[in-house]
Amino acid sequence: MTPITYELIKTDKQTGARLGRVHTPHGSFDTPTFMPVGTLATVKTMSPEELEQIDAKIILSNTYHLWLRPGEEIIREAGGLHSFMNWKGAILTDSGGFQVFSLSDMREITEEGVYFRNHLNGDKLFLSPEKAMQIQNALGSDIMMAFDECPPYPATYEYMKQSVERTSRWAERCLKAHERPEEQGLFGIVQGGEFEDLRKMSAQDLVSLDFPGYAVGGLSVGEPKEVMNRVLEFTTPLLPADKPRYLMGVGSPDSLIDGAIRGIDMFDCVLPTRIARNGTCMTSTGRLVVRNAKYAKDFRPIDEHCDCHVCKNYTRAYIRHLIKCNETFGFRLTTYHNLYFLVKLMKQVRAAISEDRLGDFREEFFERYGFNKP
Ligand code: GUN
Ligand code: ZN
Repeated sequence: MTPITYELIKTDKQTGARLGRVHTPHGSFDTPTFMPVGTLATVKTMSPEELEQIDAKIILSNTYHLWLRPGEEIIREAGGLHSFMNWKGAILTDSGGFQVFSLSDMREITEEGVYFRNHLNGDKLFLSPEKAMQIQNALGSDIMMAFDECPPYPATYEYMKQSVERTSRWAERCLKAHERPEEQGLFGIVQGGEFEDLRKMSAQDLVSLDFPGYAVGGLSVGEPKEVMNRVLEFTTPLLPADKPRYLMGVGSPDSLIDGAIRGIDMFDCVLPTRIARNGTCMTSTGRLVVRNAKYAKDFRPIDEHCDCHVCKNYTRAYIRHLIKCNETFGFRLTTYHNLYFLVKLMKQVRAAISEDRLGDFREEFFERYGFNKP
């Protein structure tokens, strides 16, 4: 029925992290994996050919943005998002729920759906489970996300409870509205904030609906790191072992490792691409702000331990110069390096799981990255 299947290859003896593989109509990818974000049918500054070069197998795009521009009907007419943007790998689309909450100030949530204002021109808009499914069916993504509510942190228990209940009812409506179940998989999104019983309720509701995969939503919304780790610790065991698990909106190197250790298989975040465009690079020894004056005459690569195309060919001094001058090529170079860094980090995580040494890998990585310092 669903075209999305998960193969559990093994679990790490030190941490319980999962090594697996997800199969989609546009190829398979090994997990844990990081998905670069291509909100507007482009991973900002990266061509699909460059994404292939860095070995990205799946990218994320956004229902909300593509609905506004260029409109899902144009993408349907192009033959779907894959052919529209010339990306041959897999695509996951977020449902728009989260974007409505993060981009629009005026909004009204009802049982039917959400009324809000277009963040570009202020027009009144309405998004519902049915509408989010119709758009994602037109886009033709391999993995679609259910339309959910991601409440702000902190939210009261009472608010969170009624929100979780509504998100479960919306998930059921999403399943009913899905018109291409043979070609596209639909994932449910577990909500419930920091409350264990609400996470449990949400997970049980969604698991009973039998999605081909599950996301943990409502995290990385301003809560302390320890809260996220604790929520993952009691939430992932509630999800079926034979389906992929996706932690939404998380992409810092430490959280990727700590998420994998808690049984997460998929991640996405704008972090690597966004910080790249203000001149910040992820390196094996921590963040490097290449636009800083101290790199003006530094002719070393961004990361001396990196073997990416950028680090093999360009210097900190040159990249700093480009970014200081707002030259597009500078942003391309930092973006390419940051995405390469995270894709490679996940390869290292998978290698560590296959050799039952992810706990040791975490220790070494955190030490070098500077997370163990006070
Ligand atoms: N992206 C980050 N967090 C969330 C979430 O809770 N729901 C959705 N739909 N997208 C997200
Ligand atoms: Zn590099």
